[in-house]
Amino acid sequence: MALENKLGITNSADLAREEERISKKRAIELFESGTLDKLEAGKFSSLQAIHKYLFEDIYDFAGEIRTVNISKGNFRFAPVMYLQAALANIDKMPQSTFDEIVEKYVEMNIAHPFREGNGRSTRIWLDLIFKKELRKVVDWSKVDKEDYLLAMERSPIKDTEIKYILKKALTDDINSREVYMKGIDHSYYYEGYTTFKAGEL
Ligand SMILES: Nc1ncnc2c1ncn2[C@@H]1O[C@H](COP(=O)(O)OP(=O)(O)OP(=O)(O)O)[C@@H](O)[C@H]1O
Ligand SMILES: [Mg+2]
Repeated sequence: MALENKLGITNSADLAREEERISKKRAIELFESGTLDKLEAGKFSSLQAIHKYLFEDIYDFAGEIRTVNISKGNFRFAPVMYLQAALANIDKMPQSTFDEIVEKYVEMNIAHPFREGNGRSTRIWLDLIFKKELRKVVDWSKVDKEDYLLAMERSPIKDTEIKYILKKALTDDINSREVYMKGIDHSYYYEGYTTFKAGEL
């Protein structure tokens, strides 16, 4: 079963395909309109705006903090109960060096504020911080997806691998639409979340 959506799609493969198509179109608009550049780098409110922009034609929860607990693999993202507090703390994290920026990104991934679409919206958010603070962005075409995913799975425990992977892929080509779009190329498989209530699993 697919996540409830505004398109009335019930098959999850169909939804994945339409979601990818529509959100990519919206991502281009976000970039071309100059809306993205106007957002304040490193704030949750900006991530919220990005998520809303990408997914508002698809999900009611676009830009909204999730109301269920979620996990992927054997990692549980921040419990709903602590999410607001976690996001307020992340807003205050420093972001003036490469290491600080990746550490902030790792914390935002642990928060995983949305029901779906965290990966894409948070990579755009990350690139906006790199762009404004370091005048660089990640060239995601230089990042192997499997390596990235493994590094992200590992990141709550140790961030060395994700730092290594992202550092190697930094580029000065900060105004390229092609480089920007590489960050949201959909993963080669679709994987949903497992939801659970407090105390379960
Ligand atoms: N086991 C895990 N532990 C920590 N982080 C994970 C884990 N699995 C995935 N992630 C992170 O979550 C992201 C996926 O989140 P989500 O599915 O909400 O977003 P998406 O935009 O649909 O996905 P994608 O990043 O695949 O385009 C991955 O990109 C990765 O950064
Ligand atoms: Mg997903």
